[in-house]
Amino acid sequence: MNIILFGAPGAGKGTQSALLVARKKMRQISTGDLFRGHIKQQTRLGTEAKSFMDAGKLVPDDIVVGMVEDVLKDLGGQNFILDGFPRTVPQAESLDVMLMNNALKIDKAVFLDVPKDELMARLTGRRVCTGCGATYHVLAKKPKAPGVCDLCGSKLEQRVDDKEDVILTRLNAYEASTAPLVDYFKKKGQFVSVSGMGETEEIYKRIAGSL
Ligand code: AP5
Ligand code: MG
Repeated sequence: MNIILFGAPGAGKGTQSALLVARKKMRQISTGDLFRGHIKQQTRLGTEAKSFMDAGKLVPDDIVVGMVEDVLKDLGGQNFILDGFPRTVPQAESLDVMLMNNALKIDKAVFLDVPKDELMARLTGRRVCTGCGATYHVLAKKPKAPGVCDLCGSKLEQRVDDKEDVILTRLNAYEASTAPLVDYFKKKGQFVSVSGMGETEEIYKRIAGSL
């Protein structure tokens, strides 16, 4: 089973992917995480992506597609979750070609449905581990010791694009470029909508039940 997990910034794609990875042994392919890894390693790809990400804008399609293609070629048969890709209709069209070329298919495109007014609170309160990337929230998912990751003990920090003005730009980019994918996946018969509101475990059960 291979899935696309999509939804607005802050909908919970990363949180739910972590559970699918742990419990269903799927591989998470998060384009945001891949770019942040490149930025940390100071690669050319990271340099190209950084200014777009810091401003809350989408990285150009050709850069993202090339990066995903390298990962898809190298899966070795493992089931995967696409988290944050595709994010535009041209990316979705490129994905179809890449899947065909690599004899892969997507079974479901799971849409995590969260109302807009909840997203800002989730994103401004998010803290991320600098070591293992685990995600916390200052109110909804506090670490045991303030500012320290429960899993690996590294320092937690705020993502540079989790500032209110940048979040607004990201939400606008989502509305303009990613929301149209709902119709794209509906036409392909892959679309499933799951409420992303409530407890993390409840949402996980909804996702698992929809697969
Ligand atoms: P990316 O890293 O993908 O960011 P995003 O799509 O904006 O999504 P987020 O990671 O912010 O949110 P999430 O849905 O994963 O939520 P999370 O689980 O963390 O992309 C970043 C940037 O990279 C983009 O802006 C763009 O520049 C570039 N990029 C990436 N992919 C691209 C592409 N394909 N094309 C072009 N550019 C691309 O949860 C958020 C918070 O809410 C956390 O604090 C969490 O603890 C909390 N939370 C989660 N679930 C719940 C719940 N049920 N109740 C309460 N709180 C909850
Ligand atoms: Mg994420």
